[in-house]
Amino acid sequence: MTAAVLTGLGTALPARLVTNEELSTRLDTTDEWIRTRTGIGQRFWSSGESTGDLAAAAGERALAAARVSEVDMVVLATTTPDHPCPATAPEVASRLGLGHAAAFDIAAVCSGFVYALAIASAAISAGLTGRALVIGAETYSTILDPEDRSTSVIFGDGAGAVVLEPGEAGAPGSFAGFDLGSDGAGRELIQVPGGGSRERTGADGAEGRYFTMRGKAVFKEAVTRMAGSASKLLASVGWAKDSVDLLVGHQANTRILHALADHLGVPRESVVVDLDRVGNTSAASIPLALARAAAEHRLRPGDRVLLSAFGGGLTWGSTALVWPELPIGTH
Ligand code: UT7
Repeated sequence: MTAAVLTGLGTALPARLVTNEELSTRLDTTDEWIRTRTGIGQRFWSSGESTGDLAAAAGERALAAARVSEVDMVVLATTTPDHPCPATAPEVASRLGLGHAAAFDIAAVCSGFVYALAIASAAISAGLTGRALVIGAETYSTILDPEDRSTSVIFGDGAGAVVLEPGEAGAPGSFAGFDLGSDGAGRELIQVPGGGSRERTGADGAEGRYFTMRGKAVFKEAVTRMAGSASKLLASVGWAKDSVDLLVGHQANTRILHALADHLGVPRESVVVDLDRVGNTSAASIPLALARAAAEHRLRPGDRVLLSAFGGGLTWGSTALVWPELPIGTH
């Protein structure tokens, strides 16, 4: 059977580094609170770069790493598109010289990258597409309320992209399976209330244009949903919990990542933490964390890697793969 195989990975971050100290000068917060409650040490915020700009930069690096110049499909996971309409993916495809590739955005908030991987993998397995470029890219700094300390300290901007190519099921780099889910009853826990058809606002200064999150409730949901999804996935692909070498969860909070490992029964040492460097980058967090782990030689060919994400919607998703020999394009 044909399966999607990961053949290249690339990332991009905006130039502007924002430290906890900088945020402490204008918000009622401290480096100590941010580090102990979240694990975040710093983040990068756009100073003009759009989501599409970061997506194109990460996409270009992933294509170069995979030594590929043509793909048939571009799937971009984002909560912060360049415009409400049209999608950002077609412009990214065009800027990357990808001709008339099918291109569309996916809105599954912080679970978007795993959702996008699932869709692109299924399209490859079904023969609907050949190669695909899957990108998670965000500029949350554009939707954060600058006065809200509970969200401003958490989110960062960035992008990560992977090239998927048709290959053999079971080969290194092929996805063993997916588990996806949602619960719309929790939609108000993570929200940008305005700017859509329910509340047609969104102009500068308008009520409802900022991102809101009920942190404590989200924390609990994040742990139970990711643990449930990852356990289901492991059972369905036949991986024992003690066979997982690396757990790459959505980078929201180190305490969430450790609780996830405890729930799953995998050692905390297998958890990849990247939020100390980039904060919570929503749909970009998993590919950025993978690139970090690979760059630091924590992720080696042959390692069994479990990915699990949770986000607004509510949405969640997990997948697993054996890490391949992989060139990585970072900056
Ligand atoms: O990406 C999608 C998934 N997102 C997540 O999974 C995020 C999940 N949630 C969390 O990571 C945590 O809930 C937060 C980091 C957002 C908050 O941590 P917490 O330990 O749950 O804090 P809390 O919201 O219960 O607030 C505790 C206290 C409050 O003060 P009082 O009411 O006890 O006086 C907050 O006002 O901490 C206060 N607080 C802050 N203090 C200093 C909230 N934000 C800050 C801050 N600096 N930045």
